Amino acid sequence: MRKKNALIIGIANPESINAGIAEELYANGYNIVPTYLNEKALPHVKSVTDPLGVEDLFPFQVGNMDQLQAIIEYLQESGMRLDAVVHGIAFASEIKKDLHEVSWKSFKDSVRISAFSMVEIVAALIRADVLNPGGSVLTLSYIGSHLAVEGYNMMGPVKSVLEALVRGLASELGGKGIRVNAVSPGPVMTRAASGIKGFSSLIRYAQTASPLGRTATLEDIAKMAHEVLSNPSINGAVYLVDDGSSVVVTLPDDSC
Ligand SMILES: NC(=O)c1ccc[n+]([C@@H]2O[C@H](COP(=O)([O-])OP(=O)(O)OC[C@H]3O[C@@H](n4cnc5c(N)ncnc54)[C@H](O)[C@@H]3O)[C@@H](O)[C@H]2O)c1
Repeated sequence: MRKKNALIIGIANPESINAGIAEELYANGYNIVPTYLNEKALPHVKSVTDPLGVEDLFPFQVGNMDQLQAIIEYLQESGMRLDAVVHGIAFASEIKKDLHEVSWKSFKDSVRISAFSMVEIVAALIRADVLNPGGSVLTLSYIGSHLAVEGYNMMGPVKSVLEALVRGLASELGGKGIRVNAVSPGPVMTRAASGIKGFSSLIRYAQTASPLGRTATLEDIAKMAHEVLSNPSINGAVYLVDDGSSVVVTLPDDSC
């Protein structure tokens, strides 16, 4: 009998960061309640969740409150309360454009999908009283929230919003015993990342910049996710898992 329950939103396929997190949480005794974006994505998501003993998966697209309600009804009908909520959603329709060429519609939609959806989801779970006191919410950010990373374009400011929402929710929900945090990994080649211009170069850059000469694996990120979700003192934080690649400034080869 698994003792804890985790809702995981944002598994696309086995390369997803959330796939690594689902596997780590399962290995640590969590029952996994996963969502999938649409029917096309379902077999790829199932290839991750079938080995985790998952029988019920739920369609979820940001903004579809009926789908969110169906997840809540499933939890209520099966007497299941959540100990962890993983929000790993990102989308930006104009990610390939320079920031100053992005339309307000695309930016607004991206903030809704990639950041504010965390608030909508958590609010609905709290209203329905399916989130346990002592429970924890985790989202995924990126250092582009602090630095202007070439190619990351509009998603940098969107991640800044997400991180501010983490702090705001952590402050508000502490009284209910609920913690809210983010893990901020270095670059990993995933489906979402493949839409970012020059992403392979970004991975090579991060590897070279890291004092350790490596980039984070899904396992590294997932272990930190589990720690952040389960450590009762971690709240309102954004934890880097990037091998130190974002804390150094390297000089060009010709410097003396
Ligand atoms: N890959 C990286 O290098 C990296 C680094 C730091 C942070 N992150 C973050 O990690 C998270 C997971 O991304 P990933 O890189 O594993 O890619 P991924 O493509 O595996 O996951 C992105 C997920 O977002 C979901 N999604 C997109 N639009 C949605 C919508 N409208 N409604 C519901 N779900 C939607 C997709 O279905 C997918 O499951 C994202 O927040 C991303 O910004 C990724």
